Amino acid sequence: MKAKINIAIDGYSSCGKSTIAKAIAKELHYIYIDTGAMYRAMTLYALQHGYIAADGKVNETALIPALDLVMINFKYNTDTYKYETYLNGHNVEREIRTLQVSNSVSPISAIKEVRQKLVRLQKRMAETKGVVMDGRDIGTVVLPDAELKLFMTADPKIRARRRYEELKSMGVDTSMDDVLRNITQRDLIDTTRAHDPLIQAPDAVVVDNSNLTIEEQYQFVMHKVTQRMAVFSE
Ligand code: DC
Repeated sequence: MKAKINIAIDGYSSCGKSTIAKAIAKELHYIYIDTGAMYRAMTLYALQHGYIAADGKVNETALIPALDLVMINFKYNTDTYKYETYLNGHNVEREIRTLQVSNSVSPISAIKEVRQKLVRLQKRMAETKGVVMDGRDIGTVVLPDAELKLFMTADPKIRARRRYEELKSMGVDTSMDDVLRNITQRDLIDTTRAHDPLIQAPDAVVVDNSNLTIEEQYQFVMHKVTQRMAVFSE
């Protein structure tokens, strides 16, 4: 019998982590967990409650004691066939993708207490195996024992172009320059923050998809998945 494994996917912003994670989860009938959505939901909560000032500064003294009041979970939508993010019982799948949330999510995800809460939840979600989880610290902090770790990267300008097209198709009014600035800024904060920064796990397989089609990337990654599953099914 094939043993279930956990697959950790880390990488820079807008690298196509969720596209590949969803495709693997669909193929293997695994559960896909978008940890970025959890940090985004936390950011939305902070925005809604006035914990982020107009200049972007986060009121940590007020936010940290309120963390116990924040409940984030995923529910499967049988119409869209997708797991959607819920914040205190409300579906926030659309609201967490706005540029306003994208612009504030890095400082929120740099707060130690926020990370502790969400990492604890994420570890629990993966206990039964059969999980594909994407984020920034999955292979290093959340699932250091994951049977397969992927580290995704791509040229920032190519990432900005892809993200811009995606936002445009969602009807979001933005410019290429704004998107590139947001991506560059998030890369910098994600890789230099003190707590759980984005770093490549030593045992991760690097996937640079700058010049790969989605199909080429899928074939490459599925080959790695099959190899790792064979090792753990022996
Ligand atoms: O994957 P994403 O772009 O939706 O993630 C949003 C932000 O959340 C990203 O800028 C960094 C942060 N994040 C994190 O710090 N740790 C994770 N495991 C996932 C996301």
